[in-house]
Parts: sequence; C-alpha cells; structure tokens
Amino acid sequence: MKTLKSRPKQGLHGELTVPGDKSISHRGIMLGAISEGTTTLTHFLTSADCLSTLAAFQQLGVPIQREGTTVTVHGVGLHGLKASTAKLDMGNSGTTTRLIMGLLAGQPFNTTLVGDASLSKRPMKRVSEPLATMGADITTTAGHLPVTVKGQKLHAVNYQLKVASAQVKSAMILAALQADEPTTLVEKLPTRDHTERMLTAFGGEISTAADGLTITIQPQPHLKGQTMTVPGDMSSAAFFMTAASLVADSNITLKDVGLNKTRTGLLEILKAMGGDITVVAEPTTGEPIGDLTIKSADLQPINIGKAQIPAVIDELPLVALLAAKANGISRIMGAEELRVKETDRISAIVTEFKKLGIAIEELPDGFVIDGRQPWHVVDPVLDAHDDHRIGMVLGIAALLIDQPLQLKGADSVRISYPEFFDDLDKLL
Ligand code: S3P
Repeated sequence: MKTLKSRPKQGLHGELTVPGDKSISHRGIMLGAISEGTTTLTHFLTSADCLSTLAAFQQLGVPIQREGTTVTVHGVGLHGLKASTAKLDMGNSGTTTRLIMGLLAGQPFNTTLVGDASLSKRPMKRVSEPLATMGADITTTAGHLPVTVKGQKLHAVNYQLKVASAQVKSAMILAALQADEPTTLVEKLPTRDHTERMLTAFGGEISTAADGLTITIQPQPHLKGQTMTVPGDMSSAAFFMTAASLVADSNITLKDVGLNKTRTGLLEILKAMGGDITVVAEPTTGEPIGDLTIKSADLQPINIGKAQIPAVIDELPLVALLAAKANGISRIMGAEELRVKETDRISAIVTEFKKLGIAIEELPDGFVIDGRQPWHVVDPVLDAHDDHRIGMVLGIAALLIDQPLQLKGADSVRISYPEFFDDLDKLL
C-alpha cells in the first residue's frame, strides 16, 4: 500500500523530461529486428511492457543489448527470425501481443504466446480474424491468450478494419510486409500512425491516401537499421499536464514530448477546456516533438464523442479527472474500448472516483461528470485495479485533496512509467 502525496501548498513547479514513448519503443525493437544492420534507440522506454518486447525478440534469435535507456538491435532481416524454444511471455503488454501476432503469422515456424492474468482476459480475435483473411493460422483460447501462431505464406488483402485500433492496424501492416502483393487497409477513424511513419524511416514502402484512412503496404521490403531518439511519451506527460492544470499556482515545463497529431487529443481537449498551455515545437525530421509549459487554470466542461477518442484513448482517465474539477457537466461518450484495456477502465474510474465523492455517472461507453459538486472522501483506500494508468490518475487525484490517501497496487506503474512517483516528487 502506498501513501499518496496530498495537496501541495505551492503547486507544481520545475522542468521534467518524461521517459520515451511506449508505442515507439515497442516498434523500434520490432522494426529493428526485421531490418538488416544495426538499430540504435536512445531514450528507449525501459518499462515492463517494452522489456517484454525486447525479451520476446531475443527469444526469436535477435541479438539485442541494452545499456540504461540505449538499446542496440542487431537486425536479422524479415526472414531471419528463429523459432523460440519456449513459449513467448507477453507479460501485461497488449501492444507486444497484437503486433507480434501479425509478424509471426508469416514466419516459417510456430509460436505460442502467453501473458499475465490481465492480458489473458483481453480480446485477441480482433487480430486473429483479420489476419486469417490473409491466410494466417492462429488459434486463440476462446478468443484470448494462450495463442498459437502457425506461420503460413500470407496473401495480400483489401481489408476494412472493424475496430479503431492502432494495434490491430499495425498487426495487419506487419503481416502485409510478408504477403505476395500490396495490401490495402481502410481504417474507420485515424489511429496512431507510428508504425507507418517508422516503417517509412526504416526504408519500407507504405502510403496513406488523402482521406487519411486508406493505407497501402508494399510487401517484401529490405528494411535498413536506423538510429533514432525516442520522443518523450505524450501519454506520460499527460499526467503532469493534468496535475499542473488542476493544482493552483502551478507552472511546469515538460521537455521533448512527442507531438504526433494522432496522440495529442489531451492537449486539444485541455486547450478547449480553457487550459493554459504553451507549445514550443522543435524542428525534427521524424516524429514531431516540442516543449510544453502548463500553468493552472479554471476549466470549463467538455463533451467528447467517438471521433475524438482514438487520439486520447490512453488519456481518458485524465479527461475524467479534468472534468471532475470543471465548472459544469461533461460527457465522454463513444469510449467503449476503455472496457477492454488493462482493466475495464470505465468501471475502475467510476468505482475509484466515487470513493472521492466525485459526481460521476457510468455510461456503457463512457461517463457523465458534474465538476461543480464538491469532492468529499468516502473511502481513503484507492485501488489501481492492476492498471498502470488507473494507478497514476489516482496519484494525481490525490494532489487535489487535503487528507492523505492510500493506493493499492501502486507498483502497476512499472508497466509504462516506473519512475512516475519519483518524477512527480521532483515537481512538488
Ligand atoms: C497502442 C495502441 C492503443 C493504446 C495502447 C498502445 C499502440 O491501443 O491504447 O496503449 O502502441 O499501438 P488500441 O490501438 O488497441 O486502441
């Protein structure tokens, strides 16, 4: 049980560089592994999830070294992976599992994937079914892990994606690299495009049409290892952006944060709510990055619908917290994907926010929150529900309360941000 810091007297102050982006760190290892030559990733995220990806590719015969946050991947090429002698342990990582399913679907060997209790409850048919249209042979356990991928020769498809999920899209892209002809994928809504951008940087041929939704992938590329610095994770920066906005007298700067438009939903929402944020973008050739300065502000309520969800999917617990202090009623809808994250995040947020006396109502696909109602602690023992982002949002909520609160399962932060509580302390 961790005792959370309560309301700081002078707000949050100072400058911080958040750890590397989780999505980009995973993809850096994967694309590095199937490239020819060496890939060097600096500011790699050394969290449990990304280390699951690193270990899985080592087991598939890829030499990978790590020194601190610098990772060197000695690529084996698209056809150089080797069968693992043991089952691959995906830990808690949905991204590792879904993306690796796409890659392994076209390899000439069989692999069994397993994961922890939370990951073993998450849906995998959303990946195995679209991959099957390309000829993949994937057996799930009633739609879940353990999953066995029997490598097959894959053929190209023209496929309309059913879920707005970058993980499903990326699995299809990694499979399409191994197909016989170009593949076309059509998304319902744009989702994070790190796979597309990074694949281009590694020498692949992938293009997105002017509609922003139709993606064409050329097969059998010879990818070339790259050197890249992973931008700071917007999804980690988001916790401090929220904290500084809500805690009076705050003024913080977050350095070198990834500003990819498919990830900046929270930034836009916070601005629309009346947040005080200054963005200084830096010139780059790859993923956009910049410094963010955030000061406390009085916030207005907001309504969010389906089209806005993908760009803020991982930050929705924070949107709920912002809404819980805004001057009116906010509605977050079209977010049913939250029910199949590391935990059911709609249910977890409602349960934990009610312990703080927050006026929140559960919807099948989101929540309604009245920020005008004063909070009052009903139960001082909060629970992370074994979910890193729920643990961290509760760590931020505690800063808005004068009495100390306890958090069960605080070590869940190791999944995406092991230094979260230390970094928060640096700003207090
Ligand atoms: C991720 C995509 C998102 C996100 C997850 C990381 C990725 O999942 O929630 O944390 O790296 O592709 P979905 O695409 O399934 O929504």
